[in-house]
Amino acid sequence: MAQPSIYQQVLDPANRANPYPLYAELRKTPVTREDDGTYVISTYNEIFALLHDPRVSSDPRHRPGAGGKTAQPDPGQPAPPLPFISRDPPDHDRLRELAMRPFGPPCTPGRIDGMRPWLVEITTGLIDKLADKNSADFVDDFAYPLPVTAICELLGVPLEDQPRFHEWADAIIETIDPATGTFEERARKRDEVNAELGQYFSHLVDSRVRQPGDDLISGLLTDQGPNAPMPREDLLATANLLLVAGHETTVNLITNGMLTLLRHRDVLDRLNHEPGLVTTLVEELLRYEPPVQMRTNRTTVADINIGGTTIPKGSPLALMLAAGNRDPSRFADPDRFDPDRTDNAHLSFLGGIHYCFGAPLARTETQVALAELARRLISPRLVADPPPYRPNPELRGPRHLLIEYDAVAPARQKTGQAVSSG
Ligand code: HEM
Repeated sequence: MAQPSIYQQVLDPANRANPYPLYAELRKTPVTREDDGTYVISTYNEIFALLHDPRVSSDPRHRPGAGGKTAQPDPGQPAPPLPFISRDPPDHDRLRELAMRPFGPPCTPGRIDGMRPWLVEITTGLIDKLADKNSADFVDDFAYPLPVTAICELLGVPLEDQPRFHEWADAIIETIDPATGTFEERARKRDEVNAELGQYFSHLVDSRVRQPGDDLISGLLTDQGPNAPMPREDLLATANLLLVAGHETTVNLITNGMLTLLRHRDVLDRLNHEPGLVTTLVEELLRYEPPVQMRTNRTTVADINIGGTTIPKGSPLALMLAAGNRDPSRFADPDRFDPDRTDNAHLSFLGGIHYCFGAPLARTETQVALAELARRLISPRLVADPPPYRPNPELRGPRHLLIEYDAVAPARQKTGQAVSSG
């Protein structure tokens, strides 16, 4: 049997706990071709260039799985629109701009900062619950509930509906996990959950049409700017996208954060006394242990010369973000976790037109969470290192993170002032 390629070894769940030596191997040849025609790109400059290249498409209809043909929807059954993460200009740009207006600057500058005191409150509540015991599964007890609650708040999902929403989020994540059944089973389950979620969002949109609130969906519905309002079907696809794109990614960042701090006790102690460190620390975490390790959703729509290779039109790409983040030609001492690093233009939120829409929220959530955890958990320690990982090579993160601690310090009186991100 042929020796598995380095890329195949990266995909192998047996290598999930530490894929970084494999990435170093990959970088020795910046562009490699797999037997199935996928081109694997592993060096910073080449990934960066392709992210900004208009000859690279995010639209799955350009996938060579369909023989390079653009799939046409069945005329009897118009397919629901793709979310903007899977579209190219000009549709991508129009929809993203519409979604951006109620989400952040310049139109709604206070949206994320306005969520900070509330995020502190949720974080405080989750840490309070840890005080009843001396050990916890950090993923289930902390990192998992926080981001989905934040997305509910953003979308305006009423409090009483949030448990159902958590269930859907869990179900979607499971269907992304290759270990949870056959491809067909997972696809069927995903369709079921998407149908239920679609119905739920549809009712939510109806209620916001009748009575707009201060949430993102209401913002999209009441927008008076150019190209507004967003068509209803696109709005439903956008709401679904925000849940999927913003959930497990943030779970993994917070969990990787805790894991990395427990492996670097000096940094954890520093964060406790110096909460302002959290801003550069979270950027370094993103570089060092990126929640999205690679993107495999792009296809070339023309021949592209890069890294001494011509990638032909219609080729699937695997952009190895985590390998680029540790490229020694871009980052000094890249395998060192350096919370003071300032020259840190990592690839973890990508770059170019699809740069992560939720980056300000993900950063704020993680900053709040890690600063509070460093302050309140007394003598936290890992029970197992490495922890068990989910098999997914793209959205990489621990499935469980068992920790022990001696005690939990009390919450501050005024939770709104509990942390400062510097
Ligand atoms: C640490 C957490 C996160 C990481 C590492 C992350 C990473 C990424 C990456 C790599 C992309 C590019 C995907 C692609 O084009 O192939 C992306 C796009 C996106 N992210 Fe995030 N994300 C995070 C959190 C969030 C959150 C909290 C939200 C929602 C509030 C969000 C919403 C989106 C959306 C809507 C896109 C599509 C942008 C576009 O196509 O223009 N993300 N994210």
